[in-house]
Amino acid sequence: LTATAAALAMTVSAGAVQAACDEGEIVVKFSHVTNTDKHPKGIAATLLEKRVNEEMNGTMCLEVYPNSTLYNDNKVLEAMLQGDVQLAAPSLSKFEKFTKQFRLFDLPFMFKNIDAVDAFQASDNGQAMLDSMQRRGLQGLAYWHNGMKQMSANKPLVEPTDANGLKFRVQSSDVLVAQMEAIGGSPQKMAFSEVYGALQQGVVDGQENTWSNIYGKKFFEVQDGITETNHGIIDYLVVTSVDWLDSLEPEVRDQFLTILSEVTEARNSESAKVNAAAKQAIIDAGGTVRQLSAEQRQSWVDTMKPVWAQFAGDVGQDKIDAAQAINA
Ligand code: LMR
Repeated sequence: LTATAAALAMTVSAGAVQAACDEGEIVVKFSHVTNTDKHPKGIAATLLEKRVNEEMNGTMCLEVYPNSTLYNDNKVLEAMLQGDVQLAAPSLSKFEKFTKQFRLFDLPFMFKNIDAVDAFQASDNGQAMLDSMQRRGLQGLAYWHNGMKQMSANKPLVEPTDANGLKFRVQSSDVLVAQMEAIGGSPQKMAFSEVYGALQQGVVDGQENTWSNIYGKKFFEVQDGITETNHGIIDYLVVTSVDWLDSLEPEVRDQFLTILSEVTEARNSESAKVNAAAKQAIIDAGGTVRQLSAEQRQSWVDTMKPVWAQFAGDVGQDKIDAAQAINA
C-alpha cells in the first residue's frame, strides 16, 4: 500500500465502525488524537456524539474519529478550513499558526491547578480568546479540561539539572521549546501519535504530559519514571470553522451549542478525577511516580519561570496579571 492508500484504508475502516448517518442529516466529523476511555477528552467526545445523535437524530449526525485515525493535531486545523472535518479539540498549545494569545496557557507554573484555568477561561479575557481566530476562519466553541503536566525521562528527574542534555518531545509550541531549553534540554516538536515510538526507540529521552495521556498511550512503559511536577497544563479548545457554523440554521446551531455546553460542564468537572485514576493506574501497572520536596519543586519553578519574560509581549502582561490574580 502506498502511504495515501494506507491512510485511506484507515479512514474507511475508522468510518466503518461509526453509526451510519441517514440521508439528509448534517454530518459532523470530530477528529481527535487521544483514547476514547479513561481520558477527559475521549470521554467528553463520546458523550457529545451520543447526545447529538440521540437528540438531533434526523438533523445532525456526529462521528468521532479518535486516536489520530483521521488527522493528527498538526493537520486537523488545515483540514477544517478545507471543510474536510467540522470539529476538533486540539490542545491550546497547537494554535501557534493562528494566534499567539494561547501561549499564556503554556507558560510554566502560570496556573496552580485546573480550577484556576477554568476561572480564567470563564473570565472576559478567556471568553474573548474564543473569538481570537475568527479572522483566520476558526471559531472557538468551548474549553475542555485535561489536567496538569508531569515530566518523564529515561532517567530519574529530581532536580532540573537532571534534564541537562536530554532530548524532550514537545507539542508544537514555541513556549514549550523555550521551557525545555531553560532546563538545559533539547526540545523536539512532534505529533502526539509519534511519541511512544520516539521514546521507545530513543529518538527522544523524555516528554511532558498529563497522567491520562501518559497512561492512555503507555509512555510510562518506555520511561524510567514520572516526576510529579505539575509544572504546566494541557487544556483543549473545541473548535470549528466560521464557515461551517454560519452554514447551520439558527435553531440547529442553538441546539448543538446547548448540548456542547452541557457536555462541557458535565465533563470538565470530572477531569481531575479521570487524571487521578490514570495516575493510580500507572502505579498499579508498576510505573514509577516520583514526588518532589518543596525545595526541589522550587528549583523547577526558579529555572522555568524566566520563560515568561520571553513571551510577555505575545500574550500581554495584562493577561499574565489577570491569570496571576485568579491564581492567588
Ligand atoms: C499532546 O500532543 O501531547 C496532547 O496535546 C495530546 C492531547 O490531545 O491531549
